[in-house]
Amino acid sequence: MNFDSPIDRSQYPTMKWSAAFLAEQFGNENAIPMSVADMDLKAPPAVIEALHQRAAHGIYGYEFRPESQLNALAQWYQTRHGWLIDQEHLEPCPSILNAISILIDQHSEEGDGVILQPPVFFEFRMVIRSSRRKIVKNPLKLVAGSYQMDFDDLEAKAADPRNRILILCNPHNPVGRVWTEAELAQVAEICARHQVFVISDEIHGDFAFPPHRYQPFLAVPGVAEEHAATCLSPGKTFNISGIVDALAIIPHEAHRRRFHEFAHQYQINKTNVFSSAAIEAAYQHGAGWLDALLEYLGGNIQLIREFLRANPIEVSLIEPQGTFLAWLDFRELGLDAKALAKFLAQEAQIALAPGYWFGREGAGFARMTIGCPRATVQRALENLAEAVKKLV
Ligand SMILES: Cc1ncc(COP(=O)(O)O)c(C=O)c1O
Repeated sequence: MNFDSPIDRSQYPTMKWSAAFLAEQFGNENAIPMSVADMDLKAPPAVIEALHQRAAHGIYGYEFRPESQLNALAQWYQTRHGWLIDQEHLEPCPSILNAISILIDQHSEEGDGVILQPPVFFEFRMVIRSSRRKIVKNPLKLVAGSYQMDFDDLEAKAADPRNRILILCNPHNPVGRVWTEAELAQVAEICARHQVFVISDEIHGDFAFPPHRYQPFLAVPGVAEEHAATCLSPGKTFNISGIVDALAIIPHEAHRRRFHEFAHQYQINKTNVFSSAAIEAAYQHGAGWLDALLEYLGGNIQLIREFLRANPIEVSLIEPQGTFLAWLDFRELGLDAKALAKFLAQEAQIALAPGYWFGREGAGFARMTIGCPRATVQRALENLAEAVKKLV
Protein backbone atom coordinates (compact mmCIF):
# COMPACT_ATOMS: atom_id res chain seq x y z
CA MET A 1 0.00 0.00 0.00
CA ASN A 2 1.44 3.36 -0.95
CA PHE A 3 0.37 6.16 1.37
CA ASP A 4 3.33 8.36 0.48
CA SER A 5 2.06 9.82 -2.81
CA PRO A 6 0.57 13.30 -2.50
CA ILE A 7 -2.92 13.52 -3.98
CA ASP A 8 -4.36 16.79 -5.23
CA ARG A 9 -7.78 17.37 -3.70
CA SER A 10 -8.21 20.88 -5.01
CA GLN A 11 -10.58 20.05 -7.88
CA TYR A 12 -13.34 19.18 -5.38
CA PRO A 13 -14.95 21.42 -2.75
CA THR A 14 -12.95 19.70 -0.01
CA MET A 15 -13.56 21.35 3.33
CA LYS A 16 -10.03 20.85 4.65
CA TRP A 17 -8.28 22.15 1.52
CA SER A 18 -10.69 24.87 0.47
CA ALA A 19 -8.97 28.25 0.16
CA ALA A 20 -12.10 29.94 1.52
CA PHE A 21 -12.09 27.70 4.63
CA LEU A 22 -8.37 28.25 5.22
CA ALA A 23 -8.75 32.00 4.74
CA GLU A 24 -11.77 32.22 7.01
CA GLN A 25 -10.57 29.95 9.81
CA PHE A 26 -6.83 30.61 9.67
CA GLY A 27 -6.42 33.86 7.76
CA ASN A 28 -3.95 32.04 5.52
CA GLU A 29 -5.01 30.11 2.47
CA ASN A 30 -1.46 28.80 2.04
CA ALA A 31 -1.25 27.13 5.43
CA ILE A 32 -0.74 23.34 5.28
CA PRO A 33 -4.27 21.94 5.83
CA MET A 34 -4.23 19.63 8.85
CA SER A 35 -7.29 20.70 10.81
CA VAL A 36 -10.21 18.64 9.48
CA ALA A 37 -10.40 14.99 10.59
CA ASP A 38 -10.34 13.32 7.22
CA MET A 39 -7.30 11.80 5.52
CA ASP A 40 -5.39 12.86 2.42
CA LEU A 41 -5.08 9.17 1.55
CA LYS A 42 -7.04 7.09 -0.94
CA ALA A 43 -9.73 4.72 0.31
CA PRO A 44 -9.07 0.95 0.09
CA PRO A 45 -8.69 -0.26 -3.52
CA ALA A 46 -11.72 -2.56 -3.01
CA VAL A 47 -13.88 0.47 -2.21
CA ILE A 48 -12.70 2.38 -5.27
CA GLU A 49 -13.33 -0.69 -7.43
CA ALA A 50 -16.83 -1.21 -5.98
CA LEU A 51 -17.70 2.44 -6.67
CA HIS A 52 -16.40 2.18 -10.24
CA GLN A 53 -18.51 -0.91 -10.81
CA ARG A 54 -21.59 0.64 -9.30
CA ALA A 55 -21.14 3.82 -11.34
CA ALA A 56 -20.65 1.79 -14.52
CA HIS A 57 -24.04 0.12 -14.10
CA GLY A 58 -25.69 3.39 -15.01
CA ILE A 59 -28.98 3.00 -13.13
CA TYR A 60 -29.17 4.49 -9.68
CA GLY A 61 -32.80 4.04 -8.74
CA TYR A 62 -34.43 3.23 -5.43
CA GLU A 63 -32.78 0.38 -3.61
CA PHE A 64 -33.03 -1.38 -0.28
CA ARG A 65 -30.10 -1.31 2.10
CA PRO A 66 -28.68 -4.75 1.34
CA GLU A 67 -28.67 -7.20 4.19
CA SER A 68 -25.21 -8.23 3.06
CA GLN A 69 -23.94 -4.76 4.05
CA LEU A 70 -25.07 -5.17 7.66
CA ASN A 71 -23.72 -8.73 7.67
CA ALA A 72 -20.34 -7.42 6.54
CA LEU A 73 -20.38 -4.78 9.28
CA ALA A 74 -21.34 -7.28 11.97
CA GLN A 75 -18.66 -9.68 10.75
CA TRP A 76 -16.08 -6.89 10.90
CA TYR A 77 -16.86 -6.02 14.51
CA GLN A 78 -16.90 -9.65 15.52
CA THR A 79 -13.58 -10.61 13.95
CA ARG A 80 -11.73 -7.36 14.58
CA HIS A 81 -13.05 -6.39 17.98
CA GLY A 82 -14.66 -9.55 19.39
CA TRP A 83 -18.01 -7.74 19.56
CA LEU A 84 -21.11 -9.67 18.63
CA ILE A 85 -23.59 -7.09 17.33
CA ASP A 86 -27.23 -8.09 17.20
CA GLN A 87 -28.29 -6.84 13.77
CA GLU A 88 -31.80 -6.27 15.07
CA HIS A 89 -30.32 -3.42 17.12
CA LEU A 90 -29.05 -1.42 14.15
CA GLU A 91 -30.73 1.78 13.05
CA PRO A 92 -29.22 3.40 9.95
CA CYS A 93 -29.10 7.17 9.62
CA PRO A 94 -27.12 9.67 7.58
CA SER A 95 -24.38 10.63 10.03
CA ILE A 96 -23.08 10.23 13.55
CA LEU A 97 -23.97 13.79 14.49
CA ASN A 98 -27.43 13.23 13.12
CA ALA A 99 -27.84 10.11 15.30
CA ILE A 100 -26.51 11.94 18.36
CA SER A 101 -28.89 14.80 17.81
CA ILE A 102 -31.91 12.45 17.58
CA LEU A 103 -30.80 10.56 20.69
CA ILE A 104 -30.41 13.82 22.62
CA ASP A 105 -33.94 14.77 21.63
CA GLN A 106 -35.35 11.42 22.65
CA HIS A 107 -33.58 11.04 25.98
CA SER A 108 -33.81 14.53 27.44
CA GLU A 109 -35.98 17.62 27.49
CA GLU A 110 -35.19 21.17 26.50
CA GLY A 111 -33.06 22.83 29.16
CA ASP A 112 -31.65 19.53 30.48
CA GLY A 113 -27.92 19.05 30.85
CA VAL A 114 -25.76 16.97 28.51
CA ILE A 115 -22.40 16.01 29.97
CA LEU A 116 -19.27 16.34 27.83
CA GLN A 117 -15.67 15.43 28.60
CA PRO A 118 -13.59 18.31 27.21
CA PRO A 119 -11.29 18.82 25.50
CA VAL A 120 -13.57 17.02 23.07
CA PHE A 121 -14.77 17.06 19.46
CA PHE A 122 -16.24 20.55 19.04
CA GLU A 123 -19.33 19.61 17.04
CA PHE A 124 -20.86 17.98 20.15
CA ARG A 125 -21.27 21.48 21.58
CA MET A 126 -23.02 22.67 18.45
CA VAL A 127 -25.45 19.74 18.52
CA ILE A 128 -26.26 20.25 22.22
CA ARG A 129 -26.81 23.98 21.75
CA SER A 130 -29.01 23.58 18.72
CA SER A 131 -31.03 21.00 20.68
CA ARG A 132 -31.52 23.73 23.30
CA ARG A 133 -29.87 21.63 26.00
CA LYS A 134 -27.21 22.80 28.42
CA ILE A 135 -23.56 21.81 28.14
CA VAL A 136 -22.30 20.36 31.40
CA LYS A 137 -18.57 19.77 31.62
CA ASN A 138 -16.82 16.81 33.14
CA PRO A 139 -13.31 17.81 32.02
CA LEU A 140 -10.60 15.22 31.47
CA LYS A 141 -7.56 15.50 33.73
CA LEU A 142 -4.05 15.54 32.35
CA VAL A 143 -2.02 13.38 34.71
CA ALA A 144 1.68 12.80 33.95
CA GLY A 145 1.18 13.34 30.23
CA SER A 146 -1.92 11.16 29.94
CA TYR A 147 -5.57 12.15 29.97
CA GLN A 148 -7.83 10.50 32.56
CA MET A 149 -11.51 10.72 33.30
CA ASP A 150 -12.47 12.51 36.51
CA PHE A 151 -14.87 9.98 38.02
CA ASP A 152 -15.57 11.97 41.20
CA ASP A 153 -16.69 14.90 39.12
CA LEU A 154 -18.67 12.60 36.80
CA GLU A 155 -20.42 11.15 39.84
CA ALA A 156 -21.37 14.67 40.98
CA LYS A 157 -22.60 15.74 37.52
CA ALA A 158 -24.52 12.51 36.95
CA ALA A 159 -26.16 12.81 40.36
CA ASP A 160 -27.79 16.09 39.34
CA PRO A 161 -31.23 15.00 38.04
CA ARG A 162 -31.20 17.81 35.44
CA ASN A 163 -28.28 16.11 33.67
CA ARG A 164 -29.79 13.39 31.49
CA ILE A 165 -27.10 12.40 28.99
CA LEU A 166 -23.37 11.79 28.70
CA ILE A 167 -21.70 11.92 25.29
CA LEU A 168 -18.73 9.63 25.41
CA CYS A 169 -16.03 9.84 22.75
CA ASN A 170 -14.59 6.33 22.54
CA PRO A 171 -11.73 6.51 21.48
CA HIS A 172 -11.38 10.16 22.33
CA ASN A 173 -11.00 12.93 19.76
CA PRO A 174 -8.73 14.96 20.15
CA VAL A 175 -6.60 13.52 22.99
CA GLY A 176 -6.22 10.04 21.48
CA ARG A 177 -7.15 8.04 24.57
CA VAL A 178 -8.50 4.54 23.93
CA TRP A 179 -10.66 3.99 26.99
CA THR A 180 -10.14 0.71 28.80
CA GLU A 181 -12.82 -1.75 29.81
CA ALA A 182 -12.30 -0.78 33.47
CA GLU A 183 -12.77 2.94 32.72
CA LEU A 184 -15.86 2.30 30.62
CA ALA A 185 -17.30 -0.04 33.25
CA GLN A 186 -16.99 2.78 35.77
CA VAL A 187 -18.74 5.21 33.39
CA ALA A 188 -21.49 2.64 32.80
CA GLU A 189 -21.98 2.02 36.51
CA ILE A 190 -22.14 5.69 37.49
CA CYS A 191 -24.47 6.62 34.63
CA ALA A 192 -26.84 3.67 35.11
CA ARG A 193 -27.09 4.35 38.84
CA HIS A 194 -28.13 7.94 38.11
CA GLN A 195 -30.18 7.05 35.02
CA VAL A 196 -27.97 9.11 32.75
CA PHE A 197 -28.21 7.93 29.15
CA VAL A 198 -24.79 7.29 27.55
CA ILE A 199 -24.34 8.05 23.86
CA SER A 200 -21.06 6.46 22.89
CA ASP A 201 -19.55 7.89 19.71
CA GLU A 202 -17.25 5.17 18.39
CA ILE A 203 -16.40 6.59 14.98
CA HIS A 204 -12.67 6.30 15.81
CA GLY A 205 -13.00 2.71 17.12
CA ASP A 206 -10.92 1.12 14.40
CA PHE A 207 -7.90 3.28 15.22
CA ALA A 208 -6.14 1.80 18.23
CA PHE A 209 -2.40 1.24 18.37
CA PRO A 210 -1.30 -2.00 20.06
CA PRO A 211 -1.18 -2.81 22.90
CA HIS A 212 -4.24 -0.56 23.24
CA ARG A 213 -7.52 -2.13 22.21
CA TYR A 214 -10.79 -0.47 21.37
CA GLN A 215 -13.47 -1.54 23.82
CA PRO A 216 -17.02 -1.09 22.50
CA PHE A 217 -19.09 0.48 25.26
CA LEU A 218 -22.06 -1.82 24.70
CA ALA A 219 -19.78 -4.84 25.07
CA VAL A 220 -18.62 -3.81 28.54
CA PRO A 221 -19.80 -6.57 30.89
CA GLY A 222 -22.86 -5.51 32.85
CA VAL A 223 -23.59 -2.36 30.81
CA ALA A 224 -27.21 -1.30 31.29
CA GLU A 225 -28.74 -1.49 27.82
CA GLU A 226 -31.63 0.69 28.88
CA HIS A 227 -29.21 3.55 29.41
CA ALA A 228 -26.95 3.35 26.38
CA ALA A 229 -26.68 3.62 22.61
CA THR A 230 -23.65 3.62 20.35
CA CYS A 231 -23.03 5.46 17.10
CA LEU A 232 -20.82 3.86 14.46
CA SER A 233 -19.69 4.78 11.01
CA PRO A 234 -17.14 3.50 8.49
CA GLY A 235 -16.39 7.13 7.56
CA LYS A 236 -13.11 7.61 9.42
CA THR A 237 -11.88 4.03 9.16
CA PHE A 238 -11.86 3.91 5.37
CA ASN A 239 -11.70 7.66 4.71
CA ILE A 240 -15.18 7.70 3.21
CA SER A 241 -16.85 10.40 5.34
CA GLY A 242 -18.19 12.02 2.17
CA ILE A 243 -20.21 8.84 1.57
CA VAL A 244 -22.37 10.01 4.51
CA ASP A 245 -23.77 6.99 6.29
CA ALA A 246 -23.88 5.89 9.91
CA LEU A 247 -25.61 3.57 12.33
CA ALA A 248 -27.03 3.87 15.78
CA ILE A 249 -26.96 0.69 17.85
CA ILE A 250 -29.85 0.77 20.26
CA PRO A 251 -30.23 -2.44 22.25
CA HIS A 252 -33.30 -1.38 24.26
CA GLU A 253 -36.40 -2.25 22.28
CA ALA A 254 -38.63 0.68 23.19
CA HIS A 255 -35.82 3.19 22.64
CA ARG A 256 -35.06 1.60 19.29
CA ARG A 257 -38.68 1.72 18.21
CA ARG A 258 -38.80 5.42 19.02
CA PHE A 259 -35.67 6.10 16.98
CA HIS A 260 -37.02 4.00 14.13
CA GLU A 261 -40.33 5.86 14.09
CA PHE A 262 -38.53 9.20 14.05
CA ALA A 263 -36.35 8.06 11.13
CA HIS A 264 -39.49 6.98 9.30
CA GLN A 265 -41.38 10.19 10.09
CA TYR A 266 -38.54 12.42 8.85
CA GLN A 267 -37.64 10.03 6.02
CA ILE A 268 -33.97 9.80 6.92
CA ASN A 269 -33.87 6.04 6.55
CA LYS A 270 -33.19 5.96 2.84
CA THR A 271 -30.08 4.40 1.41
CA ASN A 272 -27.68 5.60 -1.24
CA VAL A 273 -26.50 3.18 -3.91
CA PHE A 274 -22.92 4.42 -3.65
CA SER A 275 -22.72 4.19 0.11
CA SER A 276 -24.13 0.67 -0.09
CA ALA A 277 -21.43 -0.37 -2.55
CA ALA A 278 -18.60 1.35 -0.72
CA ILE A 279 -19.45 0.20 2.78
CA GLU A 280 -19.95 -3.44 1.96
CA ALA A 281 -16.69 -3.57 0.00
CA ALA A 282 -14.85 -1.77 2.81
CA TYR A 283 -16.00 -4.13 5.54
CA GLN A 284 -15.51 -7.21 3.39
CA HIS A 285 -12.13 -6.40 1.89
CA GLY A 286 -10.63 -3.48 3.82
CA ALA A 287 -8.89 -5.28 6.70
CA GLY A 288 -5.45 -5.56 5.08
CA TRP A 289 -5.60 -1.94 3.97
CA LEU A 290 -6.49 -0.79 7.48
CA ASP A 291 -3.65 -2.82 9.01
CA ALA A 292 -1.23 -1.14 6.62
CA LEU A 293 -2.74 2.26 7.40
CA LEU A 294 -2.37 1.76 11.16
CA GLU A 295 1.28 0.91 10.63
CA TYR A 296 1.73 4.01 8.48
CA LEU A 297 0.06 6.22 11.08
CA GLY A 298 2.34 4.68 13.70
CA GLY A 299 5.26 5.78 11.49
CA ASN A 300 3.89 9.33 11.31
CA ILE A 301 3.63 9.44 15.09
CA GLN A 302 7.16 8.08 15.38
CA LEU A 303 8.33 10.87 13.07
CA ILE A 304 6.76 13.48 15.37
CA ARG A 305 8.37 11.88 18.43
CA GLU A 306 11.80 11.74 16.84
CA PHE A 307 11.57 15.23 15.39
CA LEU A 308 10.63 16.75 18.72
CA ARG A 309 13.43 14.84 20.42
CA ALA A 310 15.99 16.04 17.88
CA ASN A 311 14.62 19.61 17.86
CA PRO A 312 13.83 20.71 21.40
CA ILE A 313 11.32 23.45 20.53
CA GLU A 314 9.13 23.49 23.64
CA VAL A 315 6.41 21.52 21.92
CA SER A 316 5.44 18.06 23.11
CA LEU A 317 3.27 15.25 21.87
CA ILE A 318 0.55 13.74 24.03
CA GLU A 319 1.12 10.08 23.18
CA PRO A 320 -1.89 8.92 21.14
CA GLN A 321 -3.23 5.46 21.90
CA GLY A 322 -5.56 5.66 18.90
CA THR A 323 -7.19 7.93 16.24
CA PHE A 324 -5.31 9.61 13.38
CA LEU A 325 -4.92 12.82 15.33
CA ALA A 326 -1.91 14.15 17.20
CA TRP A 327 -2.63 16.36 20.20
CA LEU A 328 0.31 18.69 20.61
CA ASP A 329 1.12 20.62 23.77
CA PHE A 330 2.38 24.17 23.10
CA ARG A 331 1.91 25.51 26.62
CA GLU A 332 5.63 26.06 27.14
CA LEU A 333 5.60 28.68 24.40
CA GLY A 334 3.60 30.84 26.80
CA LEU A 335 1.15 32.14 24.18
CA ASP A 336 -2.50 32.64 24.99
CA ALA A 337 -5.08 30.61 23.06
CA LYS A 338 -5.72 33.13 20.28
CA ALA A 339 -2.05 34.12 19.97
CA LEU A 340 -1.07 30.45 19.62
CA ALA A 341 -3.65 29.87 16.89
CA LYS A 342 -2.38 32.95 15.05
CA PHE A 343 1.24 31.90 15.47
CA LEU A 344 0.58 28.44 14.04
CA ALA A 345 -1.43 29.69 11.07
CA GLN A 346 0.56 32.82 10.21
CA GLU A 347 4.13 32.15 11.32
CA ALA A 348 4.37 28.35 11.09
CA GLN A 349 1.96 28.28 8.13
CA ILE A 350 0.17 25.18 9.38
CA ALA A 351 -3.59 24.92 9.78
CA LEU A 352 -3.99 22.85 12.95
CA ALA A 353 -7.27 22.76 14.86
CA PRO A 354 -6.57 25.13 17.77
CA GLY A 355 -7.07 23.53 21.16
CA TYR A 356 -9.67 26.04 22.30
CA TRP A 357 -12.05 24.77 19.59
CA PHE A 358 -12.38 21.70 21.84
CA GLY A 359 -13.30 23.75 24.90
CA ARG A 360 -11.23 26.06 27.07
CA GLU A 361 -9.57 22.94 28.52
CA GLY A 362 -7.79 22.65 25.16
CA ALA A 363 -6.16 26.09 25.35
CA GLY A 364 -2.42 25.84 24.77
CA PHE A 365 -2.80 22.73 22.62
CA ALA A 366 -3.57 22.07 18.96
CA ARG A 367 -4.68 19.02 16.98
CA MET A 368 -2.78 17.87 13.93
CA THR A 369 -4.47 15.43 11.53
CA ILE A 370 -1.75 12.95 10.64
CA GLY A 371 -3.73 10.88 8.13
CA CYS A 372 -1.58 12.24 5.31
CA PRO A 373 1.65 11.43 3.47
CA ARG A 374 4.63 11.41 5.84
CA ALA A 375 6.26 14.20 3.85
CA THR A 376 3.38 16.51 4.84
CA VAL A 377 3.97 15.82 8.53
CA GLN A 378 7.69 16.40 8.00
CA ARG A 379 7.05 19.74 6.26
CA ALA A 380 4.66 20.83 9.01
CA LEU A 381 7.22 20.00 11.71
CA GLU A 382 9.98 21.85 9.88
CA ASN A 383 7.75 24.91 9.49
CA LEU A 384 6.95 24.71 13.18
CA ALA A 385 10.57 24.40 14.30
CA GLU A 386 11.61 27.35 12.16
CA ALA A 387 8.78 29.52 13.46
CA VAL A 388 9.49 28.61 17.09
CA LYS A 389 13.17 29.47 16.66
CA LYS A 390 12.18 32.93 15.43
CA LEU A 391 9.82 33.34 18.33
CA VAL A 392 12.38 32.88 21.12
C1 LIG B 1 -15.75 11.96 17.37
C2 LIG B 1 -16.44 12.33 16.09
N1 LIG B 1 -17.76 12.11 15.96
C3 LIG B 1 -18.42 12.41 14.83
C4 LIG B 1 -17.76 12.97 13.74
C5 LIG B 1 -18.55 13.32 12.53
O1 LIG B 1 -19.24 12.21 12.09
P1 LIG B 1 -20.37 12.35 10.98
O2 LIG B 1 -19.73 13.04 9.82
O3 LIG B 1 -20.80 10.96 10.69
O4 LIG B 1 -21.47 13.17 11.59
C6 LIG B 1 -16.38 13.21 13.83
C7 LIG B 1 -15.66 13.84 12.72
O5 LIG B 1 -14.62 14.42 12.87
C8 LIG B 1 -15.71 12.87 15.03
O6 LIG B 1 -14.40 13.04 15.16
